[in-house]
Amino acid sequence: MRKAVLAMATGLCLSIAATSVFAAGVASLRGDLANDQASQMFDKKRVVTKEGGFKRSWELQPPSIPHKADKERINLSENTCLRCHSEEAYKKEKAPKIGDSHFLDAMGKKQTKVSARRYFCVQCHTTQVNAKPLVENVFAGQ
Ligand code: HEC
Ligand code: HEC
Repeated sequence: MRKAVLAMATGLCLSIAATSVFAAGVASLRGDLANDQASQMFDKKRVVTKEGGFKRSWELQPPSIPHKADKERINLSENTCLRCHSEEAYKKEKAPKIGDSHFLDAMGKKQTKVSARRYFCVQCHTTQVNAKPLVENVFAGQ
């Protein structure tokens, strides 16, 4: 019992010593800048919608999403984009079908369902907002 108490006390001393050694050498990435101001709320931007879709800037560009998409859910159990864009649904929903490339697996073999590589639609397709560019951009599409 006494041994255990002694071991615990030694452990405590060691950890206190270790903490103070590390505390002296730790530098925050923020440096010594104060962080006591509440951050500013960002401007909410309206999604720009476009009937007929956005023009592509180059042939194999993933087309931008021309409708709102913030209520869509893409997770393990569902992908609500496919409610309109899948092979089975696109005619009824009058939506463009996902591109043929979306059915190819990594070896280029055609699958019957959308390939796992194309499951997370918003990895490539994004909605658009009218926002001031964060940095100067001189890109000009076709
Ligand atoms: C309720 C049905 C519906 C859902 C859900 C839906 N879409 Fe669409 N989507 C459409 C329709 C209809 C169009 C065609 C709009 C037009 O051209 O005016 C379209 C157009 C698009 C286009 C443009 C295609 C092109 O060639 O220009 C993309 C990309 C797209 N959707 C991606 C998505 C993604 C990604 C999701 C999920 C986040 C999604 N959509 C969810 C109906 C839907
Ligand atoms: C890895 C990037 C990537 C992912 C992920 C992806 N796409 Fe695409 N998508 C593209 C590219 C590139 C094109 C244009 C070339 C083509 O059709 O393959 C395209 C084209 C499209 C088109 C237009 C097809 C046409 O014939 O004009 C639709 C609609 C579309 N995608 C919807 C979706 C939906 C819905 C998902 C999710 C299930 C998705 N995409 C996932 C890259 C992607």
